[in-house]
Amino acid sequence: MRLCGEGSIGEGRMEAFDVEGGRRILVCAYGGKLFAADAACTHEDADLSNGFLGPGGVRCPLHLSEFDLESGAPRNPPAKEPLRTYNVKIDGGEIFAEV
Ligand code: FES
Repeated sequence: MRLCGEGSIGEGRMEAFDVEGGRRILVCAYGGKLFAADAACTHEDADLSNGFLGPGGVRCPLHLSEFDLESGAPRNPPAKEPLRTYNVKIDGGEIFAEV
């Protein structure tokens, strides 16, 4: 599924996109790589695109659980369930996620 143009998410930034099926996908650019995961926190559905992106992953703005961007695993409570993550690729200057 096409999400956006390649240049629209700068290093250290993230953005969420509404996709078919009512889901919202978070795309993060960090360390020269792109990551995609569900944008809703697994704890209480906070929008992670309003959170914080750093070396440990993405941190929820509500109760501050941090999720690893590769595996989606939470690094600290209160979240216990991992985020669903998606493969990302760049093709023809566009960012796609395998949703
Ligand atoms: S809603 Fe994200 S940690 Fe609580």
